[in-house]
Amino acid sequence: MATRGGFSSRIGFIAAAAGSAVGLGNIWGFPYEVGSGGGAAFVVLYLAFCFILCFPVMATEIAIGRKTERNPVGAFAALGYKKWKWIGKMGIIAGILILSFYNVIAGWAFGYIFEMAAGNFGVAETFGDYTSQVFKVGGYGLVFMATTAFVVSKGISGGIEKMAKLLMPTLIIMIIGLVVYGLTLPNSMDGIKFYLVPDFTKINGNTIYNAMGQAFFSLSLGMGALITYGSYVSKKENIVTAAAWVTVVDVSIAFLAGLMIFPLIGFMSGGTMEGAGGGPALIFVTLAQIFGELGGSLGAIVGTGFFLLLCFAALTSTVSLLEVPVSYVVDEMNIRRKKAVWLVAGVIFLIGIPSLLGNGYSDFFNNFITYIGAENPTDFMSMVISIANESMLPLGGCMIAFFAAHVWKRNNLDDELAIGAPNYKGSFVQKYLNFAIAYLAPIVLGVMFILTVLSTFFGIDLI
Ligand code: TRP
Repeated sequence: MATRGGFSSRIGFIAAAAGSAVGLGNIWGFPYEVGSGGGAAFVVLYLAFCFILCFPVMATEIAIGRKTERNPVGAFAALGYKKWKWIGKMGIIAGILILSFYNVIAGWAFGYIFEMAAGNFGVAETFGDYTSQVFKVGGYGLVFMATTAFVVSKGISGGIEKMAKLLMPTLIIMIIGLVVYGLTLPNSMDGIKFYLVPDFTKINGNTIYNAMGQAFFSLSLGMGALITYGSYVSKKENIVTAAAWVTVVDVSIAFLAGLMIFPLIGFMSGGTMEGAGGGPALIFVTLAQIFGELGGSLGAIVGTGFFLLLCFAALTSTVSLLEVPVSYVVDEMNIRRKKAVWLVAGVIFLIGIPSLLGNGYSDFFNNFITYIGAENPTDFMSMVISIANESMLPLGGCMIAFFAAHVWKRNNLDDELAIGAPNYKGSFVQKYLNFAIAYLAPIVLGVMFILTVLSTFFGIDLI
């Protein structure tokens, strides 16, 4: 097997895994899901899913990766369970689907750097036109994918670690700055209320499925990205603490992004919070408006800086998404890494083209499919999000947990988790993880998967 490389330091792994987790999911996805899902009640569900269910699954993925030093498909075979390889294969397909649409959004964000630099804040009012200019935004997407491929082709410690360490803190500072600014504006408290005071009557099946999908997506879980990253982790690393850190960092940044957006929407809407349910366009519209409010060169500087950093956050995520199919191709098909990277990136870009076209340009992809029992058609990108994020990731998480606890067996998982963690065995955390991985995660995630599929694609709402 080709040399796989490894993370050069402890903090390097946490930074890279957090870099994978923190991305468009936190800053673009989370606020729009909160806005569409009715506000604070969604936030509560999301937080609960992240800590109660996702954190144990994350520790499990990393442990499987470190134990086997393989990509998600090879990992199951390396443990001696060839029959379970399909979980890894499904993960790789999910990763390819996710990267295909993710890169389109990243292309929009990338283009925004230039829009903001040019002081074109009016793009907020005509966002639909912006995304319809497929040659322009598609070009940005192409550059973004090429950049991702370049970083991945440089190998693990060279490319990923350095970027993650430098840019994440800068982004956080910038978001905090915008939170503080937002809170000084009139009607910002209406945004805070929407974001933080839950109205549980707003919860329905859909809110729950979306919160679950968002939690998995945001934490990069359920498709083996963290099996792959785990495969580069040293035996000195404490996996449980690392997973806890990644969860806390990721959730905090999503939370901050909400704290940034909703006061701004409160201000823009004069307190009605109209526009909060703006869907995938949400941050692109609201933020451009606010940078316009800041006016002139200040708005241009802040806007350019913000989207630049957002693109770097997205890049550490696209890198992790591309890494998974690439490491599979490298390990299992014996293709040289460089060649594998450009090949896989090219194919995924092509798969993303319908998502690109289905945001205003092509009627066919705008109204791609009408699910059974649905009134209106769904666009291509939303369909991919429902299939990959909301269905495949929870199913993957369910199967990974079930596999680890009942096939590979809990004591083997525990042994791996205990390496580098002297106090793990006998601790409360161990007991909780055992329970969560053996029972809670497989059952809850399995049920959620079935309910989601029935509701989304077949219009059958059991809750
Ligand atoms: N978590 C990233 C985000 O929030 C996206 C991402 C990167 C991802 N790698 C993943 C999602 C693996 C699912 C699986 O932007």
